[in-house]
Amino acid sequence: MVQILSKKFSKISVFPIFCLIIYLFIYLVVKKENEKCLKLENIGDEYFGFPVLLLDKNILLGKCVEKVDVGVDIKYRKFVSFNSNSKFNFIFYINKTKHDYLTLLTEENQRIIPKKFETRNIEDFQVPVNIPLFFGFLERSTYIDCLGLKRNSPKNATKIRDFINSMVELRDLFINDFGIFFYLSGGTLLGWYRECSIIPHTEDVDLFVKIEDLNFDMTLFFKSGKTRFDFVRKLGRVNDSLTLTIFDIKTKTPIDIWFLYESFHENGEKYSWCGINNKQGQKHRFFYPLQKSWCATDLYGKIFWVPCSPKDILIADYGEMWYKDIPEKNYVWFENAKNSKVVGFFREDEMKDVYEWNPKYISKGSINK
Ligand SMILES: *[C@@H]1O[C@H](CO)[C@@H](O)[C@H](O)[C@H]1NC(C)=O
Ligand SMILES: *[C@@H]1O[C@H](CO)[C@@H](O)[C@H](O)[C@H]1NC(C)=O
Ligand SMILES: *[C@@H]1O[C@H](CO)[C@@H](O)[C@H](O)[C@H]1NC(C)=O
Repeated sequence: MVQILSKKFSKISVFPIFCLIIYLFIYLVVKKENEKCLKLENIGDEYFGFPVLLLDKNILLGKCVEKVDVGVDIKYRKFVSFNSNSKFNFIFYINKTKHDYLTLLTEENQRIIPKKFETRNIEDFQVPVNIPLFFGFLERSTYIDCLGLKRNSPKNATKIRDFINSMVELRDLFINDFGIFFYLSGGTLLGWYRECSIIPHTEDVDLFVKIEDLNFDMTLFFKSGKTRFDFVRKLGRVNDSLTLTIFDIKTKTPIDIWFLYESFHENGEKYSWCGINNKQGQKHRFFYPLQKSWCATDLYGKIFWVPCSPKDILIADYGEMWYKDIPEKNYVWFENAKNSKVVGFFREDEMKDVYEWNPKYISKGSINK
């Protein structure tokens, strides 16, 4: 009788008990895992005694992270060694007064990101507020240096100051108002890479903007007259070879914005291009090797973004002898560019859309190219 009962008892209860044990086991494992990792909500429980910059993409995305990347000003280095906390991966950064960027000394390379971005404080942590923008900085943060080949042309300090000032102003306007980035191109890319400077005889700033980043009507924006940049001309249109020229009223600097497109060659290979059309509607295209990634650099203490393989772009524009100097007055884009081809015409009825000038600037020779 007792035997039968206990057999019956065991039959009834073994299963729920088994389930309970499994449940407890899973509960404990999950709990343990959760204790090991950190989330944005509980990050304030950690104490350092010095400020740390939250750099970790996963934790900023709300994920649970076991080892969190944090940036620490290198001046706190000696505190970090006493405070070696296994939950954190410390990345030292240099914050120089004369630079408008921070230099992150990661194990594999140097990275730079702008200094100016909004953060909120959670105890010792500085947490970036605009996360997509901050990720944009990190994505393009790999540092590359200019070559600094010797040039004997004397530099014009006023001109350099004016050009850099215009570029910084436009860079911040793009970032803060629209969350988009530009990249140095043409003569500006050449000047930076070859001479770590502005080529004395260049007449304008050249920039690339990826067409897919264009998230607002830039033409209307510059026409609105709300900024120090005046609308000069628009050539092409969003779906075909858009190029925009603006003029910095303050420094009297013309700026060409070349929108960069991607297409496929017949053999299936992808390439980048930008285009321009003349008064007759003739479409010129400039072909470039596809740029897969974009890097960051320094020009007179300011951060700018550049193609990660600038030489490929310069060879495309100027040929294998790109490092030789050509006076700008002898350099005509249409004729000298090594990578240019006429690909067609805009029809006459399209011209009013694709060839638009601000009358104020039509007679100004230097930008009427
Ligand atoms: C960098 O230094 C400036 C002062 O020069 C300071 O205001 C700023 O908070 C510092 N930035 C970081 C991220 O440490
Ligand atoms: C320096 O550049 C400024 C602005 O571009 C120009 O007005 C000036 O004539 C230049 N000076 C020299 C010595 O080339
Ligand atoms: C580009 O847009 C115009 C109208 O704005 C249209 O007529 C034209 O077909 C478009 N071209 C392409 C290649 O999509």
